[in-house]
Amino acid sequence: MVETRKIGVVGAGTMGNGVAQTFAVAGFPVVMRDLTQAALDRGMKTIKKSLDRMVSKEKISAQDAEQALARIHTTTSTSDLKDSDVVVEAILEDPEIKAKLIQELDGICRPDAIFATNTSSISVTRIAASSSSPQRVIGMHFFNPVPLMQLVEIIRALQTSDEVCETIVKLTETIGKKARVSKDSYGFVVNRVLVPMINEGINCVYEGLATPEDVDAMMKLGANHPMGPLSLADLIGLDIVLDIMQTLYNGFDDPKYRPSPLLKQMCDAGYLGRKSGRGFFSYE
Ligand code: CAA
Repeated sequence: MVETRKIGVVGAGTMGNGVAQTFAVAGFPVVMRDLTQAALDRGMKTIKKSLDRMVSKEKISAQDAEQALARIHTTTSTSDLKDSDVVVEAILEDPEIKAKLIQELDGICRPDAIFATNTSSISVTRIAASSSSPQRVIGMHFFNPVPLMQLVEIIRALQTSDEVCETIVKLTETIGKKARVSKDSYGFVVNRVLVPMINEGINCVYEGLATPEDVDAMMKLGANHPMGPLSLADLIGLDIVLDIMQTLYNGFDDPKYRPSPLLKQMCDAGYLGRKSGRGFFSYE
């Protein structure tokens, strides 16, 4: 089994910076790469805010937070990932861009390095097929907000080796998360169950059954969800929710996964949730 010492993270956005923070808090040196210094600065700012929050809630000490921050190095050069034992990618959900990245990493990293994708809507088997060593590609699906959510859904591509799967399950436990393995299928397990529920919440608003506030209140009070489906859609990003519904709809070719017309309209309007300042609720 490959011993994991250094972590590379590609993408400093919502998921990428959360992943970098989680590994750094667990004691791993992390190199976080994005295309621009501005994106890296935004990612580091988010990490600092999240760590400050954990300190104020007494989840970690101020000293541990400071040390975690110091473990994260940022770069705009993919070649700085050459010493990474595991590289987690959390870039755009575009199969061609992901394939290009995996091929670039193939040429840079050691032959035994593992490439983990945080994709939520692209086949991990398809991503693995773009590598010259597809057995070392696996899905490591984190949940938002990454520092707080316990699960990492591990997705085995058809090509993933047993050794790579065992290493990633062990690594997930080392960073204090719970690992559960799923086969590669549209939406894997969590999004296949969760995202159609969110879509139905949006349909309830679309059909005028209740306001967003009331749909959320009903699911919190009546089903004990920590957050209502519309607030959760805003947290995940409405474009991501739409992407996952489209993947389920097209993949299974089943009308039960039809994206809500209101979800599509919200995306067309650029109302993407927290990240755009407005979704079903306002964040300005
Ligand atoms: N780092 C980052 N974000 C943090 C944080 C930290 N340390 N602490 C809190 N948050 C975030 C929340 O998003 C929210 O933001 P604001 O207050 O700034 O508006 C807020 O902080 C809530 O703060 P609370 O102190 O009230 O947080 P809490 O401890 O009560 O729990 C929660 C918040 C864990 C998010 C809880 O509401 C929850 O579990 N919600 C459901 C989350 C969920 O289902 N996530 C999965 C989404 S699906 C996915 O991610 C996969 C995919 O592929 C789409």
